[in-house]
Amino acid sequence: MFKRLPGDEARNLVSTTPDTAVVFRPAVVKTPAILTIVILIGRMVARLVRTIWRHPIAAAVLVVLGALWYVYGWPVAASLTGTVVMALASWTFLDRPSFARLVGYRLLAWWRLVWIYRRHWQPVMIVSGLGRHIRGRDYLPRLGKVTCTSWADVVTVRMLKGQAVKDWADRTDHLAQGFGATSCRVALSHAGRLSLTFPRSDPLASPLLALAIPDEPTVGPVEIGKGEDGRPWRLKVHGTHVLVAGATGAGKGSIIWSVIRSLLPAADAGLVELWALDPKLMELSYGRALFGSRYAATPEECADLLDEAVCVMQKRAARFAGLQRSHTPTVVDPFVLVVVDEVAFLTAYQSDRQLRQRISAALATLTTQGRAVGVGILAALQDPRKEVMNIRNLFPDKIALRLDESEQVDMVLGDGARDRGALADRISPVPELGAGVGYVRLEASPGPVRVRAAYVSDHDIRAMVDAYAPRGEAA
Ligand SMILES: Nc1ncnc2c1ncn2[C@@H]1O[C@H](COP(=O)(O)OP(=O)(O)OP(=O)(O)O)[C@@H](O)[C@H]1O
Ligand SMILES: [Mg+2]
Repeated sequence: MFKRLPGDEARNLVSTTPDTAVVFRPAVVKTPAILTIVILIGRMVARLVRTIWRHPIAAAVLVVLGALWYVYGWPVAASLTGTVVMALASWTFLDRPSFARLVGYRLLAWWRLVWIYRRHWQPVMIVSGLGRHIRGRDYLPRLGKVTCTSWADVVTVRMLKGQAVKDWADRTDHLAQGFGATSCRVALSHAGRLSLTFPRSDPLASPLLALAIPDEPTVGPVEIGKGEDGRPWRLKVHGTHVLVAGATGAGKGSIIWSVIRSLLPAADAGLVELWALDPKLMELSYGRALFGSRYAATPEECADLLDEAVCVMQKRAARFAGLQRSHTPTVVDPFVLVVVDEVAFLTAYQSDRQLRQRISAALATLTTQGRAVGVGILAALQDPRKEVMNIRNLFPDKIALRLDESEQVDMVLGDGARDRGALADRISPVPELGAGVGYVRLEASPGPVRVRAAYVSDHDIRAMVDAYAPRGEAA
């Protein structure tokens, strides 16, 4: 049907009156000026109410200052403002952390909401394609609260109806550039609501020195580095198996050595046994004395040591059967941690087929049955593809250090991990900046968490050997 709308082209229209133009005029409704004024005032009041609702403290401060000025004059208002500013400054000086927590980060969040996010929201949304401009009207996702932590801004957003998390995950780069951050991470907080994390600074930008060896024997989650929120990174090794994937030079050694370092007191107390498989002969051989006779380098020795671990595991399982369902490390039944550097040398790249099958079978047996009886595996490898490591899914915990290709990230951390911000393929190849940096999934966090392992230097390893190698075996 022909629609009489302004701007529509009147095609196929035949006029029976020659030389007469067919003109369509839009209907013009004249709005009384008073109605326009009332609407504008209504909008201003609504905006004012919304501002007071969203920033009650800032509004209260302004009202109180205004009232003081009005009642007692400007000197009183100015001297009160000065006193409050002085008090806040001394608080910062005396106890910075509590000031930051209670006042500083709130002020910063307010400032960043107003100056960064609200100011740039409309252009960034429209240009990135997350908002729509239809018939002169903007339909934008709703900007919610901004919370500042020591290292990042967390911005809550209500998505437009019909949008998916993936729409946002695909545009993290647009968001990061738009709001002047180096990266952006997207996580779903409630149905229809997202939280976007924009880092302000990077606490992992410089290498971390080896952490102090714990005073008490501990087998529980061991501290091996720092998370991007500045908190300690604790890795669970007892009751799980851990796979560390990273390209050459990514810093796999620093994770292996940090774990060994923090388990040394427990090993000294007899609660942990460290077994080492070092097919490349370059990593664990440096602290060989720490492993006593439980050190293997040639493929044959590695296969024998793995078979021995399977034997320990099966004997324990037979003893525990019907009595206990989980393992508590004791001197009689210590936690056995089998550390394997470059596991692919033993599985995929091993030319002797029989040996390869024997090793693969032992690794699969240990990863499927060892957890509950106190036998764990910590394995490192460079290439996480299935052809190279077909049992990678038998490792409950995985760490993605720097990887060569973006597809490898999801292979290590599970589907969608890269979309949610695990940019392991973008970690710097410069050792000072990127070695030991990686992404992990923690139970407490919906998205992947960026971490950095402490660097255990050759000198540290020598000191560890001197202090903890079993007697008579120290180098
Ligand atoms: N946590 C770290 N912090 C800072 N620098 C590190 C860290 N870990 C390693 N490095 C530096 O990076 C270099 C390579 O580290 P490492 O040997 O652990 O890598 P890798 O992943 O084991 O590599 P490859 O697969 O070739 O054995 C080290 O020589 C060291 O200089
Ligand atoms: Mg290595």
